[in-house]
Amino acid sequence: MIEVVPLGGPLGARVEGLDRRMANESAIAKILTRALAEHLLVVIPGAPMTPAETRDFAAAFGKPQTQLLRYKRSGAVPEVSVMVSTLMADGTTDKTAIRAEDWHTDDSYFAMPAKATLLHSIEIPSHGGSTWFCNMHSVYEALPEATRKRIEGRRAIHGYDTPRARNRPSPRTSEEIAETPDVEHPLVRTHPETGRKALYLNPNRLDRIVGLERAESDALLDELADEARKPRHHFGHVWNKGDIVVWDNRATMHRVMIDYPLGEKRIMQRVLIEGDRPV
Ligand SMILES: [Fe+2]
Repeated sequence: MIEVVPLGGPLGARVEGLDRRMANESAIAKILTRALAEHLLVVIPGAPMTPAETRDFAAAFGKPQTQLLRYKRSGAVPEVSVMVSTLMADGTTDKTAIRAEDWHTDDSYFAMPAKATLLHSIEIPSHGGSTWFCNMHSVYEALPEATRKRIEGRRAIHGYDTPRARNRPSPRTSEEIAETPDVEHPLVRTHPETGRKALYLNPNRLDRIVGLERAESDALLDELADEARKPRHHFGHVWNKGDIVVWDNRATMHRVMIDYPLGEKRIMQRVLIEGDRPV
């Protein structure tokens, strides 16, 4: 018997009693997708799986998509990326994990960003390395009325790289650059399944608000990001080996804490689930 147990914070629920091999049965897939839309983050404990099993499980949430960065793709299963973020002696982890330390939503530099991301822990350090999530419905609802009016109907430019980013991205191949031109998205998006509004921010990719001067745009984006940085909107997941965590990119941001011991393996499988054009 599947049970969806809210985690008690601003977002998140734990799914208990699920046989992961049954996730694609329509009644079960429906429970999982509804839990994701309602709680924005679902945690499903269990044992480590193979990339093919992870891809099949992810399909309960939608269509797994092939990953942009070629070098991360998992051999025979291109929908699964293997993310190695083991902390090295020089202070670096994986080339892109440094960027993942700041709040972001995955793939907003695409016209149709992934609706959800699945992470599955294969190896975790003895402590640290939690992943934090931010509820962007509650961020939107916490904005002053005047600010909500200012951003109503506004659109913003997201790029793979922007000088506003605290951390710049890893280099792309020319093929990957051709696949990532700047795109425009609404600043406030409506969740297609629940109808709730969410602030659609991505501080590492958001370059400017369309129709505003650079200085005004910068100030407004900073003000919006400041609200999202308030801990009352956040929940942190402490990993157990084998956990699956799925989050809704349409109404959350996330970040990883790089506070774990040097050299201890941290390896995750990741699957992105195809999304729609934000509205
Ligand atoms: Fe991410």
